[in-house]
Amino acid sequence: MSDSISSQAALSEVVEAEGHLIDSHIMEQIFDTVVEYNGRFEVDRFYIGKTNSDPSHLRLRIEAPDAAAMQRMLGQLLGLGCTPVDTSDAELGLVEKDCCAPEDFYSTTNHRTMVRHNGNWITVDNQRMDAMIVVTESGAFCRRLRDLRAGDRVVVGMRGIRVIPESKERDRLHFAFMSNGISSERQVDTAVRQTVALLKHNRELGLRTVIVAGPVVVHTGGQKPLATLIRKGYVDALLGGNAVATHDIEAALLGTSLGIRQMDGRQEEHGHRNHMRAINAIYRAGGIRQAVESSRLTSGILYECVKAGVPFVLAGSLRDDGPLPDTITDMNQAQDAYAEQLRGAGLVLCLGSMLHSIATGNMLPSWVKIVCVDINPAVATKVSDRGTGQAVGVVTDVGLFLDLLARTLEAE
Ligand SMILES: NC(=O)c1ccc[n+]([C@@H]2O[C@H](COP(=O)([O-])OP(=O)(O)OC[C@H]3O[C@@H](n4cnc5c(N)ncnc54)[C@H](O)[C@@H]3O)[C@@H](O)[C@H]2O)c1
Repeated sequence: MSDSISSQAALSEVVEAEGHLIDSHIMEQIFDTVVEYNGRFEVDRFYIGKTNSDPSHLRLRIEAPDAAAMQRMLGQLLGLGCTPVDTSDAELGLVEKDCCAPEDFYSTTNHRTMVRHNGNWITVDNQRMDAMIVVTESGAFCRRLRDLRAGDRVVVGMRGIRVIPESKERDRLHFAFMSNGISSERQVDTAVRQTVALLKHNRELGLRTVIVAGPVVVHTGGQKPLATLIRKGYVDALLGGNAVATHDIEAALLGTSLGIRQMDGRQEEHGHRNHMRAINAIYRAGGIRQAVESSRLTSGILYECVKAGVPFVLAGSLRDDGPLPDTITDMNQAQDAYAEQLRGAGLVLCLGSMLHSIATGNMLPSWVKIVCVDINPAVATKVSDRGTGQAVGVVTDVGLFLDLLARTLEAE
């Protein structure tokens, strides 16, 4: 631990938290955290919000056995919305070398965060987890380690930082399935109806809807319903890897996905070549957009994206064949392109890709709603485990889910 942290450390602190502390179970977590770090707490003051929109307010005296435990405990409590009561600004440390933060840098959560600077609390922009907070004359911003530049000033220590965890929203009864965490097979109908409601609500709010998709969407027959969703204007961006685009194009050009005939599910003779033939065709056309413009590609998910002007990002991976000329193989560039499309998103549907769904979940602030559809409960749990009721995992076949989703939208 650096000198600045140890000099700040104390065995007793007073912290405050405000929000829907009871029904979001945050108060319980605060008390548990103190006990977990062998600390003691004493409630100085507690005001219970009287209405469903009225926040509660907690003022708590905490004690830790030693200074190191106090720092660890404060670090955890900050993430639960507890701010040490004092009037100091956030402490800033100088970045001396590109991509290197001072040792005691504050590492962000995905929750809305404020820092105190020149006596004012300012909201941190571009909120995401595992970033540093850079403070400039024009504001405070989350910045990844690799984007730090010598001369930047970043928040260090634990003072002057206020984290505002998402609380259960007032629409929680309306979108009850979001507070269930994981929906099992039995609840797929409900999950689809609620996803339709979320799609419409998000559109009404003027927020972006982003789809993250893996190749299993094509393998399970989800290509057509997803293409319909894009054609009908429900999708503002598509994120995925080389495989979803390759198999979508293979299906559009050759009627197979990974060599399996879509019409009867049988293996096509020499079908294993087909995905390479698809990549070859796109290289020949000069790219996916050019293949659509030259009428080489006339249907499918990527075709609809190009036609509707919906941006798509294909992030490369070590597994990729080809890859397609549109696949971004520089991982930093691919992350930047994902982040760009996720800005302004209100809803993200993650469909059958462990890699891309988890990566996307890590980039999002906690107030963006996520519906993660995966056959493996562990993936749905990992993506939706954001402890807030803002994300839900739907454990089911993604092809069936998309089919039902498109039909429900059509029926309405
Ligand atoms: N030929 C290629 O170039 C090629 C082929 C495969 C993968 N890749 C690349 O590898 C990376 C990872 O690929 P990925 O996203 O397919 O793999 P992944 O392992 O990250 O995710 C696949 C997910 O699909 C889920 N799944 C399987 N069957 C399902 C079903 N019926 N319904 C719902 N979910 C189901 C799995 O549980 C898993 O979570 C990607 O970047 C991809 O583009 C490339």
